[in-house]
Amino acid sequence: MEAHNYGNIFQLEQALNKIQDFDTLLERILFEARKIVRADAGSIYVREIADEKGKPLEKLAIKYSQNDTLSAKLPKGEKLIYSLFSIPIDKKTISGYCALTRCLVNIPDMYNIGKDAPYSFNSEYDIISNYKTISTLTVPLIDSNDQLIGVIQVINSHGESAEIVPFSKSDEAMIAHLAITASMALQWAHSTRVMVLRTVKMAELRDPKETGVHVNRVAGYSVEIYDRWAYLHKIPSAEREKVRDIFRIAAMLHDVGKVAIPDTILKKPGRFIDEESRIMQRHTIYGASLFNDSQTPLDEISRDVALTHHENWDGSGYPGWFDPVAQKPIKIDNNGKPLGKKGEEIPLAGRIVAVADVFDALCSRRVYKEPWGEMEVLNEMKKMRGIKFDPELTDIFFDIYPSIKRIQAMYKEGETP
Ligand SMILES: [Fe+2]
Ligand SMILES: [Fe+2]
Repeated sequence: MEAHNYGNIFQLEQALNKIQDFDTLLERILFEARKIVRADAGSIYVREIADEKGKPLEKLAIKYSQNDTLSAKLPKGEKLIYSLFSIPIDKKTISGYCALTRCLVNIPDMYNIGKDAPYSFNSEYDIISNYKTISTLTVPLIDSNDQLIGVIQVINSHGESAEIVPFSKSDEAMIAHLAITASMALQWAHSTRVMVLRTVKMAELRDPKETGVHVNRVAGYSVEIYDRWAYLHKIPSAEREKVRDIFRIAAMLHDVGKVAIPDTILKKPGRFIDEESRIMQRHTIYGASLFNDSQTPLDEISRDVALTHHENWDGSGYPGWFDPVAQKPIKIDNNGKPLGKKGEEIPLAGRIVAVADVFDALCSRRVYKEPWGEMEVLNEMKKMRGIKFDPELTDIFFDIYPSIKRIQAMYKEGETP
């Protein structure tokens, strides 16, 4: 971690306001919060207001955890896998207390919390992760409508010679200021997320397979695969974050073109006849057409994903070389059909979403099939390496499989995203 960097907080506000995706923003906020107070670790929690059946509840769910000490022990390029849990918003935990009272909580030593404090520290996570939490600073995130968004907790402030020290009064002021900026940016990103999920909901009304959790999982897997690919290809981190930000939204919208497919086809329980498949396949072109007036990098990547997420590495996918603006094929075979795109002719974003979408479909229940078992799914993924999927991306998928499982656990069937 760098030294205290109070001067840059204003540049930071601008940087945060440029991020459009809610998750990308959460991760970045946590990173910046840790940086300004030289915290070795930290977590960011988001308030959840409904359970899987839509029943109201008040909980804090952990979204991201970062830990420099533990990350340094991992092989290069590998990410820390942390446990996902929710806690009630009550006085028993420090984060719950902070969320409930909306007060900043500064604890110099977690193993020496005063006896009269309403909260206590559960050292179980320290034991599991082989880490010692000493000082913590916890701050609420509150939006402009006075609604609680979540809580940031930074852990173990580094002193001048790397020893762990309590968080100072000026750390409290800095983090409180960051929380205000962060909350505003999060409020914007949240409304973007809500709009994207509403668009997905429209597609879901037409095709019940396209659920919020499905698109959240596909987007999560896609971003993780991209991240490892970008690391291996030495993509600079600023560029990486920019792509992650828009890629998550684009991946969520991969099947949005299904809104234009007739119900008789979308809701047909059995297999399609040829003509029906041909119509169904047009969801790629319809989806891409929504972004024809491409204005921004987000439009461009969304168009690439919608158009090419069913292309196969070996050229046997669809819709092939088709121009969604002119609405006609660009390259045709002897029968006048568009030629399939193959290999790196398929944009990277489309190749990644193909892996993520197929994996999720295999793991899920469909009208015509039960979910497959994990081994069966993984064998099938392996079989499609170099045929349906980009071989390098398939290898990456297997390398980061623990992260894929974490995302799967985060968005379970039947839960509201
Ligand atoms: Fe699709
Ligand atoms: Fe899908």
